[in-house]
Amino acid sequence: MDDSTYDKTSQVHDANYEQSLRPPAFSEFHGQDKIKERLTLMVEAAQQRDDVLEHILLSGPPGLGKTTLANIISGAAGTQLHTTSGPQIEKAGDLAGILTNVQKGDILFIDEIHRLHPAIEEYLYPAMEDFRLDIIIDSGPSARSIQLNLPKFTLVGATTRAGMLTAPLRSRFGLVNRLDYYTKQELAVIIERSAGLLEIEITADGALEIASRSRGTPRIANNLLRWVRDFAQVRADGTISADIANQALAMIEIDEDGIDEMDKRILEAVIYKFNGGPVGLSSVAVAVGEDASTLEEVHEPFLIMQGFLKRTPRGRVALPSAYTKIGVTPPKNTEELF
Ligand SMILES: Nc1ncnc2c1ncn2[C@@H]1O[C@H](COP(=O)(O)OP(=O)(O)OP(=O)(O)O)[C@@H](O)[C@H]1O
Ligand SMILES: [Mg+2]
Repeated sequence: MDDSTYDKTSQVHDANYEQSLRPPAFSEFHGQDKIKERLTLMVEAAQQRDDVLEHILLSGPPGLGKTTLANIISGAAGTQLHTTSGPQIEKAGDLAGILTNVQKGDILFIDEIHRLHPAIEEYLYPAMEDFRLDIIIDSGPSARSIQLNLPKFTLVGATTRAGMLTAPLRSRFGLVNRLDYYTKQELAVIIERSAGLLEIEITADGALEIASRSRGTPRIANNLLRWVRDFAQVRADGTISADIANQALAMIEIDEDGIDEMDKRILEAVIYKFNGGPVGLSSVAVAVGEDASTLEEVHEPFLIMQGFLKRTPRGRVALPSAYTKIGVTPPKNTEELF
């Protein structure tokens, strides 16, 4: 992936920068109105009853605000957040270690929860349902099970692949929230807020220009903002106007729909190498030299949402707008494929 200037998947990429722009409260978190409303209501109800929040699942493509929401929920509920991730919990003891540190009402945030080891999932079920952990110690004839009673806690799980969660795990969440891509207007507000925090001068048109190329994703919007700021500083007087944003983004080859080089390569591969499809994801991945799960989690949802690609039972198919995007005339019979 071309990530010399910005990177849509990386979380380690300038972590401090991301941290400083992370909205600390619901009032500063723009967009996702339905989810915000549900979460605020849940927090309020739990507080009125002096009870612990139900377990919450947050799903959606990278960079839409899952980690941010987990932090905000814990802030609003006034409880402590313990963070871990699916692949980090390797054995039952790791889970026990975390859970025995949790106090009543605390939030355990498990990022990438779809990557939990199946055996760990089994331990999690009684922990979520009955706040109990049954651990087997020793092996062979001396193996025995000990039971740990846990304080009532809230599990907040985040995943980019809700479909990969097993049904029993999914059903143990009281509320499942799917985050959607942001509108251009919502992103413009987020960009203006970030510009304010970073003390960047930006016009309303400049913010909209960056917003429309941010693939509906706040993390990308913030990354593009930072690039355009550098450009404005060196090539202009520092203020970001629509024209400056345009020039800056052209320089890193992000077009007016937010389509970047990798997206173009994907569309070109489906159209030129596989005759427009249907073609399996793994074949596309090999053709563009990218890992299949990155394609599926990062690139494809946006291309599908924008109407460039379609998922069919027989594989991915390029839609007419994909042909137009790469500058070729769509074949007359694409419709027959569906
Ligand atoms: N609604 C929002 N308003 C303002 N900024 C936001 C919003 N959502 C996300 N951001 C910004 O985008 C960045 C990425 O968000 P976050 O880390 O929460 O995404 P994520 O969904 O957890 O992504 P991943 O799946 O990669 O972990 C945050 O640092 C924050 O600055
Ligand atoms: Mg995250």
